[in-house]
Amino acid sequence: MSADDSNKDNNNPRHIAIIMDGNGRWAQKRHMPRTIGHQAGVKAVRKIVEHCARQEIEVLTLFAFSSENWRRPEDEVSTLMSLFMATLQREVSKLHRNGIRLRFIGDRAAFSDNLQDKIAEGEALTCENKGLTLVVAANYGGRWDICQALRKVAEKMLAGELKNYEIDEKLITQYLSIADLPEPDLFIRTGGEQRVSNFLLWQLAYAELYFTATLWPDFDQNSLDEAIKSFKSRQRRFGYTGEQVLGKSITL
Ligand code: IPE
Ligand code: IPE
Ligand code: MG
Repeated sequence: MSADDSNKDNNNPRHIAIIMDGNGRWAQKRHMPRTIGHQAGVKAVRKIVEHCARQEIEVLTLFAFSSENWRRPEDEVSTLMSLFMATLQREVSKLHRNGIRLRFIGDRAAFSDNLQDKIAEGEALTCENKGLTLVVAANYGGRWDICQALRKVAEKMLAGELKNYEIDEKLITQYLSIADLPEPDLFIRTGGEQRVSNFLLWQLAYAELYFTATLWPDFDQNSLDEAIKSFKSRQRRFGYTGEQVLGKSITL
């Protein structure tokens, strides 16, 4: 891939990864329970998925539930689980009709059997689709991802199929979630916080970071266009000098 065509002709990011934050505060501002904020958050997801599909973005990864979110009050966690279930039941056939490929990353073993089945069904139904790949990070943590990759690497070593000197970045990357997809180009976090909260730690190494105070339920097509505009205005250097990138004498 050369420096001038890294994101196809329109220079759009190939992969956008979003921390959808601010549902609770959105509801609290309206003197409503946090649950209402999560419901409003699902509506925002629908709009953003449609917009990404229309813009021919290749991959959209959404952080839906972190490995740390189990620490929340029990009733909020169970509301979120019911919402995932209901959303999957309602939306999967529509995603499929629109050619969207659905994927989940994270430790799904912690979910109910019912939810695990729905997740597997959604992935199986849509796996051949050629449109937007929608990756939902659920019970996901960047550190968990690195640990599960290293466990697989260790198993290979124990089986005598791998030598320690063969372990390099490329090899570890192969065992991480979404290794088969392009790395995120644009990372967006809504809700005003400027932190990564254990999202895709390894994979975000060279993503462009974009933070907005907009609360997730208010994040709409225009907000996404703003973020993409900001992305397009930046020069990605990957360690090279600006002159090297402009001179296009390098391969990114
Ligand atoms: C993000 O919104 C949704 C999840 C973590 C599931 P929050 O629920 O974190 O909203 P705030 O940060 O409390 O406003
Ligand atoms: C990150 O948001 C996780 C998701 C959006 C799913 P949090 O609201 O949980 O992050 P912290 O706790 O404020 O860092
Ligand atoms: Mg939050």
